[in-house]
Amino acid sequence: MKALILSGGKGTRLRPITHTSAKQLVPIANKPIIFYGIEAIRASGITDVGIVVGDTEAEIRAAVGDGSAFGIRVTYIRQDAPRGLAHAVKVSQGFLGEDTFVMYLGDNLILDGITPLVEEFRRDRPNSQILLARVPHPEEFGVAELDGDRIKRLVEKPKEPKSDLALVGVYMFDATVFQAVKAIKPSARGELEITDAIQWLIDKGHTVRPHVIDGWWKDTGKLEDMLEANRIILDTLVPRTDGTIERSDITGKVVIEAGARVVASSVRGPAIIGKGAQIENAYVGPFTSIGDGVIVRGSEVEHSIILEGASISDIGGRIESSLVGRNVSIYRSQHKPRSFNFMLGDRSEVGLI
Ligand code: DAU
Repeated sequence: MKALILSGGKGTRLRPITHTSAKQLVPIANKPIIFYGIEAIRASGITDVGIVVGDTEAEIRAAVGDGSAFGIRVTYIRQDAPRGLAHAVKVSQGFLGEDTFVMYLGDNLILDGITPLVEEFRRDRPNSQILLARVPHPEEFGVAELDGDRIKRLVEKPKEPKSDLALVGVYMFDATVFQAVKAIKPSARGELEITDAIQWLIDKGHTVRPHVIDGWWKDTGKLEDMLEANRIILDTLVPRTDGTIERSDITGKVVIEAGARVVASSVRGPAIIGKGAQIENAYVGPFTSIGDGVIVRGSEVEHSIILEGASISDIGGRIESSLVGRNVSIYRSQHKPRSFNFMLGDRSEVGLI
């Protein structure tokens, strides 16, 4: 069995971060999202993995490499434009051949992994197995209408959802899916939808098995979702201190990576302080990921993700529920007249008090 990870797409809902980086590489608890998917796939025993890439191919390659660091073998598959999940399957036929495969959306996180689900698929051999989860806003997802154990209908982002069962971004298929992706037509949003391909399989009498999961799952397309994922994953960390702590209070689950320095500060977990980060005269509150080389000085940060190389100095108030990009600098200016000075990327968002 092979795996196909989808890591193309545009990431429009996470701009401006995704102007300069692939959304699948935004870190959750200081680890790129896509690594969680790769680890889940490896844990299920699959080592032959195709990664569908688009414009951000170079970055994904730089981060994942040939896969040997994860114990897998990676084949990169170029998709010329994000023409839909079913299109991504179509362009991967050469790699997948006649094998069964699990398709994993590179921006999805499933806390409990996929091992039992892959085992179930291997054992029972339906043509396809889909995962469903109950969500509060089903209209943002593919939605399934069930009749007992049978799928009645699948609709992509319906305005009036018939249920609260969303399609999770992990699917299992055998080679009949290639007939489906070739038969369907682009949807109203101009994409070849995997949801339509699965509906085609059902309509033609192939077996598609639904599996409702009850563990935690997230599609990390938006800021709130990233922060929630960060919260959940940080809570699973095992506390550890490889860096140095001076005159500081550390409480709760906190990971302090090698080379990090926490001086005259208070850190309340769950939190992670990345390699070489400097926390000085500062407060780092629960559910915060401080990236490698970040500086937090004379400031307070809580429930946030601060990416590599950013620096936050002498801010009066507390930074909360924020995602701060790589090498961003936030500081208090001493010049007179006192004013706000910004240099913000396209679509940045600043909330002032
Ligand atoms: O997360 C689950 C949802 O994923 C399902 O409920 C929906 O039925 C399914 O269509 C999908 O919806 P999204 O609109 O969230 O998909 P998105 O465009 O965000 O793409 C998901 C991943 O696949 C993302 O990592 C980018 C990648 N991708 C996307 C497209 C459209 C590709 O690699 N190629 C593509 O052409």
